[in-house]
Amino acid sequence: MKFHILTLFPEMILQGLRPGIIGRAAEKGIISLNAVNIRDYTEERHGKVDDYPYGGGAGMLLQAQPVYVAHRAVTGGRRVRTIYMTPQGVPLTQKTVRELAGEEELIFLCGHYEGIDERVLEEIVTDSISIGDYVLTGGELAAMVVIDAVSRLVPGVLGNEDSPEEESFFNDLLEYPQYSRPESWHGKSVPAVLLSGNHREVAAWRLEEARKRTALRRPDLYERYQETQRLIRQLSKDKRNNIHMMESLARGKGEILYADAGNGMKNAAIYDGSCRTAMLTAGDAGSGRRLAELLPAETERVLVSQAFLEEILEEKQYRPSCRYRQVLYPQRTVLPVKHKDIRRLGMESYEYVCARYCDGTGDAGRQGEARRTGVNRQYVKERILAGAVYGIFVEEEPVGFGGYHADGGLGMLYLEENSRRKGLGTSLEAYIINRMLERGWIPYGHVEADNMPAMGLQEKLGLYFAAKTYCRMEKTLANEGQVC
Ligand code: ADE
Repeated sequence: MKFHILTLFPEMILQGLRPGIIGRAAEKGIISLNAVNIRDYTEERHGKVDDYPYGGGAGMLLQAQPVYVAHRAVTGGRRVRTIYMTPQGVPLTQKTVRELAGEEELIFLCGHYEGIDERVLEEIVTDSISIGDYVLTGGELAAMVVIDAVSRLVPGVLGNEDSPEEESFFNDLLEYPQYSRPESWHGKSVPAVLLSGNHREVAAWRLEEARKRTALRRPDLYERYQETQRLIRQLSKDKRNNIHMMESLARGKGEILYADAGNGMKNAAIYDGSCRTAMLTAGDAGSGRRLAELLPAETERVLVSQAFLEEILEEKQYRPSCRYRQVLYPQRTVLPVKHKDIRRLGMESYEYVCARYCDGTGDAGRQGEARRTGVNRQYVKERILAGAVYGIFVEEEPVGFGGYHADGGLGMLYLEENSRRKGLGTSLEAYIINRMLERGWIPYGHVEADNMPAMGLQEKLGLYFAAKTYCRMEKTLANEGQVC
């Protein structure tokens, strides 16, 4: 991820972000920070960049010319998302942060004085963001806040161990209270349940504390949490068919674009901005048409199980790319894993995975899906850095891999030809299911409807099949390069 910051105080940005996690990510090249001094681009003498506002008023304005030329110097005429930091902008939320984390390059424009000449804003700014209802002396601190929040979602920045995909247990809720050593401090003891070693009880206690805290401190967030929980309960009446929507919501990835209130829920639209994937279900074609209107313009793929939705989406330039069956593992019990040498893969395995998953050539086995949806190397890199890919080894040699997709479904399964039909696939999938259970997720996945060996494997593991067949609709042209 590349960040460019147009500012009068580049050293403020660099000094502010260099120490700590963000600085380390920049050193490793996972993100890049390019602080551009607007003053370097003025055509006026003595580095002058400001002037009085027409019509009078207090203070000075940043002039259009140096801002425009500095921006051109970064873009070279390309279209790059450009965010103006201003108290007049849209209030920053984690949802916006997630969405921005999906970009490859961002430009931040930091204002100073009383603002910036409106004419250049009209020409270069794509988004305006405020970090709160108060006024800072300039946009630098605000830009740093956004850069920090976006960077920690960039795969690899936090490292595999504390990847943000794993912290989504208590979405929409404030964090529960935490305690460390010593057990007793100032006469206050750590709550006994945390010392019990009973993971289930600990999780239940934390959830309850998080709920109480959120209801008390942030009733607005709590209301949204309850709305999401209500929809999850509705969807759970047909769990096998709706598990992808339920899990997207429960893991805090999907947002509700629309959902019928009450018991007879027929229509729902959920959108996951982090992988630009929408999920629709509709009671009839008229409702389906209305739901399709709600899809954000940047939506790249839509998962549907109704033929009339396919037709509606085709009118909107989406094309069917893959038909699959949905499977889920609703139990909480971990599965036995016979083969012991299974580990999370790091970037040293990148070429190995790409050669088998992306290219679809040679001994690639069933790589039809990858070929059709244009899975590329970038996606594999993103998944590995997210800590979402596991390898299976025999005598220290990799013989296959699998993981979970950006939209949350288990997949990417691959085994070398001579390692098939030996139970290794069963072990690998069971292992991934167990990792998902650890995170409090309900494991589910998608299997190509005509992939008989994969379907057999799911049955053997005790997974349940949804009755419906799903279709993944991909936006034509725009879908090259990414897949969920
Ligand atoms: N610039 C000055 N105040 C700001 C704020 N609250 N948010 C974003 N940018 C700003």
